Amino acid sequence: MSEVDRASVPVHVGIIMDGNGRWANARGLHRTQGHAQGEPALFDVVHGALDLGIQWLTVYTFSTENWNRDEYEVNFLMEFNVDLLERRRDELHELGVCVRFMGDMADPRIPPVLLDRIRSAEDLTKDNTEMTMVFAFNYGGRAEIASAAKRIAAAALDGTLAADDISADTVAAHLYIPAMPDPELIIRTSGEQRTSNFLLWEAAYAEYVFTDVLWPDFDREELARCVAEFQHRDRRFGAAVDESLKDSSR
Ligand code: IPE
Ligand code: IPE
Ligand code: MG
Repeated sequence: MSEVDRASVPVHVGIIMDGNGRWANARGLHRTQGHAQGEPALFDVVHGALDLGIQWLTVYTFSTENWNRDEYEVNFLMEFNVDLLERRRDELHELGVCVRFMGDMADPRIPPVLLDRIRSAEDLTKDNTEMTMVFAFNYGGRAEIASAAKRIAAAALDGTLAADDISADTVAAHLYIPAMPDPELIIRTSGEQRTSNFLLWEAAYAEYVFTDVLWPDFDREELARCVAEFQHRDRRFGAAVDESLKDSSR
């Protein structure tokens, strides 16, 4: 197990779970079998995150751009989410996990049965406090910021908010889950090194860890390794490098 300093575990970790299609292709399987194989990886990571004491875990499950995939894959993913929530809801509840979905839930392309399963999982787990697990589903960072802008503009128009008073805090207060702290660490699997529209606003000062591991091969050990790598980063938030640190490295 990687050496994780338990005293400085990130409060919020985001994961871009990528590489399911390539994992399946490499085995001569259909891409959708890669998605299915991502489920045990995800639940191993949930256990690992709980064990480390991570308070918020956000997983990118479907982007606003993923509708561009072929109909068969999109339908599979919708049904897979319904199925996963039916099979895993009670287990997440028993683990004390609070389930939240984050994205454009008003999109008419989302099947009503999935919206029903989402509501029931959120409702069942709403008072749980061990960890909040956010499913970024039909999520896009640009859509999230645009939706905040729309509501801020409406408040300015109806006179409840003065345009001059709009600040970064105002925008943050209008994001999908205002109570969600910014992620300190974002992990992306499969070797790709881009955000693909994930948590654009919230990740302003996140540390990124990229790993070549394909999502179905990821597990709690890999999570611990990524957290340990994060703990070796020097986070400065725009401040000058500490002079004493420079001196000691001479
Ligand atoms: C990530 O795996 C899962 C989703 C985007 C739903 P991919 O399906 O993107 O897998 P690759 O990138 O094609 O290997
Ligand atoms: C990002 O992965 C979305 C999810 C993991 C759900 P993609 O595979 O869709 O991203 P791109 O297309 O490679 O940028
Ligand atoms: Mg991909």
